[in-house]
Amino acid sequence: MIKTAFPDTFINELVARNDIVDVVSSYVRLGKKSGSNMFGLCPFHSEKTPSFSVSPDKQIYHCFGCGKGGGVISFIMEIENLSFPEAVAFLARRANMPLPEQENDRESKKRARMLALNRDAARFFYDQLSTPAGDKARAYMAGRGISKATATNFGLGCAPDEWSSLEKAMREKGYTDYELYDAGLIKKGKNGGYYDTFRNRLMFPVIDVRGNVIGFSGRLLDGEGPKYLNSPETLVFNKGSNLFALNLAKKSKSGYILLSEGNIDVVSLHQAGFDSAVASLGTSLTPEQARLISRYTSQVIIAYDNDGAGQKAAQRAIGILEKLDLKVKVLQMSGAKDPDEFIKLKGPEAFQMLIEGSENQVEYRLGQIAKKYDLSSDAQKVDYLKEAEDLLARLPNAAEREVYCRRVAADAGISADVLIGEVKARRSRLLKRTAAASRSSPEKQTQPVERQYRYSDPASAVAEEGVIRLLYLDPALIRRGGLPTKEAFSSPVLGHIYEVLCRRLREGLSVSADVLGGELESGEIALLVDLLQKPETLSNSAKALDDYINRIDRRRRETTEGDDLLQILEERRKELK
Ligand code: CTP
Ligand code: MN
Repeated sequence: MIKTAFPDTFINELVARNDIVDVVSSYVRLGKKSGSNMFGLCPFHSEKTPSFSVSPDKQIYHCFGCGKGGGVISFIMEIENLSFPEAVAFLARRANMPLPEQENDRESKKRARMLALNRDAARFFYDQLSTPAGDKARAYMAGRGISKATATNFGLGCAPDEWSSLEKAMREKGYTDYELYDAGLIKKGKNGGYYDTFRNRLMFPVIDVRGNVIGFSGRLLDGEGPKYLNSPETLVFNKGSNLFALNLAKKSKSGYILLSEGNIDVVSLHQAGFDSAVASLGTSLTPEQARLISRYTSQVIIAYDNDGAGQKAAQRAIGILEKLDLKVKVLQMSGAKDPDEFIKLKGPEAFQMLIEGSENQVEYRLGQIAKKYDLSSDAQKVDYLKEAEDLLARLPNAAEREVYCRRVAADAGISADVLIGEVKARRSRLLKRTAAASRSSPEKQTQPVERQYRYSDPASAVAEEGVIRLLYLDPALIRRGGLPTKEAFSSPVLGHIYEVLCRRLREGLSVSADVLGGELESGEIALLVDLLQKPETLSNSAKALDDYINRIDRRRRETTEGDDLLQILEERRKELK
């Protein structure tokens, strides 16, 4: 590559006006000096102790870990993924220096022309959808549930199953083969001729945050070939520093960015109302992409595929995102391989619950119930439904009840409407009964059947039960701070159950009633199972937990204040004697 199309004097001044410590500091936290060098965590490889050094005197950087090093221009090339002229332009902008006239002009004209070509190509692909050449793509989209409005929103299109349809159309618009080749839209054949890069594909234009069409991603419609084909790196397209659909997601009001793996997932998510979904164009997430995301949000929700590769990619992405102080959450989509399938199988409400974190707990409980029965036997299926119905009827949220009724009905192979009706009836019976019970004797209700476990302070015991119930149903709560010790419990038996439960959860062990049976008395297990039956709010379990803990605290303060008073009176009496 010819590096110095820029005059030396210009480059020297550029370097002088971009102090390497300043420039690097906006990417790397540079710690204290050691000798004349400053150290920080290397942005080019993952490490825990700083081996990345910057020398203010020499104006260079060097990483002792990965061996990368150079001056300020090569730092910017590396970290922003830019070519030499692009990095020069970047630093010139930063230092407020005008670029030497003709270079700037030539480059930007070429760039503008390529963007215009890409836009025209996108329009061509889009227009094909309403011609016979687009029949297959239209049918494909219909088969995958992509609506016309969604196709328009994304500017989806179709590359016809022909060798030169795009080339011909673009030449008619005045673009040369040379320009088409540079933009990665045509390739050179063996006999010297050209052919279209994208053929027989559903086309996804990649649009940057300024609205420029910078490249394409094409999904095979049928037949031979790689499933996806992306534009090669060009003057305007760099895969690793762009995200598919960020142009749309940046306008979202959701407060987070949803990061998925596939273009189809992104399209499906947007269509279902999750308008902050983006995907990383077939690469694993890069630091540049993460930095781009951090411009628009402080929270990222990862919804990668549910397979080993997806989970591993998620782990890597977490590391990259957290370096930028982004809050990260990973969705666990059980029962579906990716977000597209999840939404198709379970609906947008279920996905929303996944995002809010309430899904897992209900799903977990239903799973526990399902495990107990053999659903291929009709008799067991009835028992399964009875038990599931009871759980469903106790869910406080109506949307939640409906979503899970549909799920259970599908699993058991019965009509959803029938189940929804049953659950509704059971719920109103339940509500009536609870109301009646609390009218007659609020305390009797809470007392365990076994005499030896009778609660001395029912008001506190109710909250203690609640703490146990929540931890059991939503094990992730164990990681919250401020959990009480078992001594805070007024009921010794609940304290013991709580202690065993916490220990197992902290050790990452399972806490089903079956395994707890090994550590608890049978009477304790019975009590636990009984308290688990009581209704619980799972949609905001963290808040519910805090409420219970506060109640326990308050009760303890009330009762011990009483103790103090007794003690004082006792002492006074002694004094008087
Ligand atoms: N990808 C790619 N090149 C490939 C395969 C995949 O660039 N040969 C990228 C695409 O951006 C694709 C993403 O990786 O969207 C995820 O791949 P995959 O899960 O296979 O595709 P989906 O878009 O999910 O499509 P589908 O639902 O049809 O499987
Ligand atoms: Mn996929």
